Amino acid sequence: MKIVTTVEGVREQVKAWRKEGKTVGLVPTMGYLHEGHKSLIDRAVKENDEVVVSVFVNPMQFGPTEDLDSYPRDLAADAKLCEAAGASIIFHPEPEEMYKDGFCSFVDMSGLTNALCGLSRPVHFRGVCTVVTKLFNIVTPDRAYFGEKDAQQLAVVKRMVRDLNMPLEIVGCPIIREADGLAKSSRNTYLPPEARQQALVLSKSIFLGKKMVEDGERDPEKVKQAMREVINTAPLADIDYVEIVDVNTMKSVDVIKGEILCAIAVKMGSYARLIDNFMMTV
Ligand code: PAF
Repeated sequence: MKIVTTVEGVREQVKAWRKEGKTVGLVPTMGYLHEGHKSLIDRAVKENDEVVVSVFVNPMQFGPTEDLDSYPRDLAADAKLCEAAGASIIFHPEPEEMYKDGFCSFVDMSGLTNALCGLSRPVHFRGVCTVVTKLFNIVTPDRAYFGEKDAQQLAVVKRMVRDLNMPLEIVGCPIIREADGLAKSSRNTYLPPEARQQALVLSKSIFLGKKMVEDGERDPEKVKQAMREVINTAPLADIDYVEIVDVNTMKSVDVIKGEILCAIAVKMGSYARLIDNFMMTV
């Protein structure tokens, strides 16, 4: 398995595959790969002849006070995981390769991004939409794979592809959890043992909220309040949001009905801001 660092290099490889009539899957990542990413690569390998995994910590999607510099990186471990999972190449460009001198073109979205993480991370989705569009243009995949853990990102990318007539399919893949319930995330590595233990309030609140809805609760305020109470039992937890929204609009719902997303974001002290969610059709 090759690591390709240039746009030109990826284009040549994809052109050769296309000549042989092969299909191509893309798994966009920021590296420091874990079981969650592996599940995306496994699915992509099953559904495509060749699979490109991009490993690029995209500076454009981080705010000025966020964790761009400390974001964990380990290309050697990523390469091992990708090779074992059967990926064909890793695309690992330097920021200068993706954003040439004088870069000034962006892909942005309104509506869906004016809620949840879009409120607390104002530049985030413009950065995501721009880099994902660039990756789609470079790799020209038949399918691209995204985790449901970043549910708003998945909804935003699906909408962008629909609105801008991008010729590929977006595949969402289920959240992968640690044995104790915590959703897998590269940012979990920021947590010292005490914070890691307390972070279990995220998944506990998600499981509780899901159970309440499954058991028939339709009042979003009651569900959110019960979830907040669970999260607030952890001294380090500082709630950014606990929301129940319509998955197609990202607007809060008055009654739990239709396709809903229940999403939370919680800061664990100054160590990490973690997210989790459940989606349900009621
Ligand atoms: O989900 C991520 O890791 C990133 O937001 C993505 C999709 C790779 C874009 O940089």
